[in-house]
Amino acid sequence: MANKGLGKPASDTCVLVTGGAGFIGTHTVLELLDRGYNVVVVDNLYNSKPEAIRRVRKIAGLAEDDPRLVFVEADIIDRDAMDKAFAVHDIDAIIHFAGYKAVGESVQKPLEYYWNNVAGTLALMDVARDHGVKNVIFSSSATVYGEPDSVPLTESSPKHDATNPYGWTKSMLEQILTDLYVGDNEWNVVLLRYFNPIGAHESGLIGEDPKGIPNNLLPYVAQVAVGKLPAVGVFGDDYDTPDGTGVRDYIHVVDLARGHVAALDWMAGRVGTGEAHDAASIPGAQAEDGTRSGVGVFNLGTGRGTSVLEVISAFEKACGKPIPYEIKPRRDGDIATNFADAAKARDELGWVARYDIDRMCEDVWRWQSSNPDGYGD
Ligand code: NAD
Ligand code: UFG
Repeated sequence: MANKGLGKPASDTCVLVTGGAGFIGTHTVLELLDRGYNVVVVDNLYNSKPEAIRRVRKIAGLAEDDPRLVFVEADIIDRDAMDKAFAVHDIDAIIHFAGYKAVGESVQKPLEYYWNNVAGTLALMDVARDHGVKNVIFSSSATVYGEPDSVPLTESSPKHDATNPYGWTKSMLEQILTDLYVGDNEWNVVLLRYFNPIGAHESGLIGEDPKGIPNNLLPYVAQVAVGKLPAVGVFGDDYDTPDGTGVRDYIHVVDLARGHVAALDWMAGRVGTGEAHDAASIPGAQAEDGTRSGVGVFNLGTGRGTSVLEVISAFEKACGKPIPYEIKPRRDGDIATNFADAAKARDELGWVARYDIDRMCEDVWRWQSSNPDGYGD
């Protein structure tokens, strides 16, 4: 079936957001609603709660039965359920967040990770194609670059071997989605490589709600700040960085969410030149309604690196109290430094990250201090 064009106004465009009840998904749904898009969220609530969707509705001022935001509890690998979702809702494009994301767990449970992330995406794309929906934005990760040869990372920096099954699923799915376009030029694919998403919506109503003890730095620091955990373990202070601790490109989740809306506009031919000037992208064609086809690859980061100790210090400023920490051995698989060259997203998507690390920490603190147990039970 021919691909649906995207050349309609946002208010006539329906976006399927898989994993839309999760951390990045909820913030993206809000930005889409704000821009007038209609949204169907599909989430199996494996790592999220219905309360997250209730709060998105609250922030957006939508009643539970408002057709602009529909929630479907389903697994993306369930073809019957997905077929029904596509049949009932006139979906034009997909923003695909659904997946498992815990690096360490993926080493213990490779089958579950490959099944959910890779097989889940294959099933989803197959059903989408049956319904003529070939516009897809995929959550990739800076993890596909592996150990960088140099920083900042551009989209044409080489992809290196992943160091865990989670990373491999991202690398494989980038390839699979690229091959869909190679085999059928109607596909319109955007691969967004996120750096380190943190922060929360300024309302303090939605944010990251990890299960159990957090693996990632910011939720860990936030839980120390509210007294749920005693001290932050700093994984290594002997890296080749200014203060010896790991340097990352932290990006506010609201900036990241806006990056998805910019990518959608780009796919619809509403911004930029679309002349992919980078080996990582495969430039496509532009239809009469302006809609593109091809594969666009974009880093979403701020272009600035922040060390673990700088994060702790920014968080102390945000919460107004000291954060106890202790230096621990390096964590297996960690790299010293990575940060993005975000020029391509700026030039082609017209997108730049607005918020700095202080603002990110302020927003995490607002969320964590008003919701010490996340969305609760
Ligand atoms: P998250 O766990 O908060 O959100 C993912 C959502 O997908 C959850 O609500 C979960 O219930 C749902 N889900 C998982 N498997 C599903 C399935 N089979 N069917 C339906 N729903 C399913 O994670 P997040 O931080 O919002 O990440 C979103 C995406 O971005 C993921 O693909 C992740 O790998 C990617 N990503 C995240 C980061 C990060 O640091 N948070 C960095 C790079 C890439
Ligand atoms: N860190 C600590 N203590 C902690 C947690 C982390 O010192 O308790 C340090 C890490 O060593 C690293 C930095 O804080 O230097 C950031 O670590 P995170 O775990 O928050 O993030 P990573 O950069 O390791 O991982 C993120 C995403 C992954 C993705 C990876 C590469 O969470 O999904 O970036 O893109 F695969």
